[in-house]
Amino acid sequence: MDPVLSPTNSYVPRTENYRTDLRYALYAIERMAHNRYKALLWVVNNQQTENQYIQQVRLKMSFPKLNQGSSYIVIKLLTSLLLFCTTLFGADAIGAQPTTEAEKIIISGASGQLGSLVVKELLARGVAPARLILVSRTPETLKEYAVQGASVRFGDFTKPESLPAAYAGGSRMLLISINSGGGQRPELHKQAIDAAVAAGVRHIAYTSFVNMDNNPSPLAADHRRSEEYLKASGAAWTMLRNHLYMDILLNQAREMSASGQAAIALDETPMGYVTRGDCASAAAAVLIAPGHENKVYDITGPELISRKELAETITAITGRQISLTSATQGAGGSGGFRLSGDYLKITSAAVADLTGRPATTLREFLEANRDKWMPQ
Ligand SMILES: NC(=O)c1ccc[n+]([C@@H]2O[C@H](COP(=O)([O-])OP(=O)(O)OC[C@H]3O[C@@H](n4cnc5c(N)ncnc54)[C@H](OP(=O)(O)O)[C@@H]3O)[C@@H](O)[C@H]2O)c1
Repeated sequence: MDPVLSPTNSYVPRTENYRTDLRYALYAIERMAHNRYKALLWVVNNQQTENQYIQQVRLKMSFPKLNQGSSYIVIKLLTSLLLFCTTLFGADAIGAQPTTEAEKIIISGASGQLGSLVVKELLARGVAPARLILVSRTPETLKEYAVQGASVRFGDFTKPESLPAAYAGGSRMLLISINSGGGQRPELHKQAIDAAVAAGVRHIAYTSFVNMDNNPSPLAADHRRSEEYLKASGAAWTMLRNHLYMDILLNQAREMSASGQAAIALDETPMGYVTRGDCASAAAAVLIAPGHENKVYDITGPELISRKELAETITAITGRQISLTSATQGAGGSGGFRLSGDYLKITSAAVADLTGRPATTLREFLEANRDKWMPQ
């Protein structure tokens, strides 16, 4: 077991205002409790003393070197202060954003392919249907959740008058980026963000595009502007920068499998494709736990994949050889997008860090979807 803390576990003290400080204090307490639990696991696995482990954790988290007695007094003082503030002013007054049973989660675009997977994932993780506000242009397709107790509502970014009622009562929101908008996509996203903030939504997670800081793709421009709008909105935000869906490789797998051939371009960029399912799990994890406010995650698969790897994986699964032929520049690519470039050549540990399980490999994905690409 690796005792090194992941980036999502790092504690960064802030001093901008008392609300932020108190919120971070709350996280610090939570982290200390979490690390005590990790320490016990570490002791069991490595016969190391708990104190040794706590020392390592403190070093990595830059915690003051307090002995156990003073740590206890500090924690006690902080929790008493938080309790005092929440009693006087309510939880909102201290800016704390833990998810509670009372908090309602909005899924914008709940009937889409990603949206419906997120809804299933939230329910599978034990979120009560009554906590869900499912917003869609086609609410009639979500009847099964209404029957279970979810609030199913109509909402369309191109009809801004529909949005206040759609978002009323929600605290957190997953804003699934739209796939249309006639050049107005960022502005339509902004309408949704403004309506959500006006309705009292305090935290918005947005499905963006991978490696946005170094991403020259035309597809990234809309997401960049949408991210800027969200950051300026006043709500806490989380950028879920999804890599290209692994699902788009199924068409290529079907073609290769049927023809027994794969054209490979020398200049092809191997990419960190991620399954839609993993994107949904990561989004659900961000929606149901605190600690993801104002953070950016590159959501990728666990490995870089090119058409050569795709052909080899098909052969490994079916036992049938796929012969490789060389193709002209730019052949293959990624589904209909034909994107390439080193900015796509990235993987991250975000899916595992957020969900607690490894991201899906190409082989696992192809095996789970044999019916979609294997000749019958
Ligand atoms: N990473 C990738 O490889 C990749 C590939 C394609 C797209 N994307 C992006 O990821 C998003 C989700 O992917 P997906 O596979 O779930 O796509 P999808 O099945 O086509 O879903 C489109 C989503 O956009 C919502 N939407 C469309 N127009 C809207 C409007 N006017 N107002 C409100 N919501 C609207 C839909 O919600 P309702 O239908 O429920 O109203 C739905 O959730 C896409 O929209 C696109 O921005 C990423």
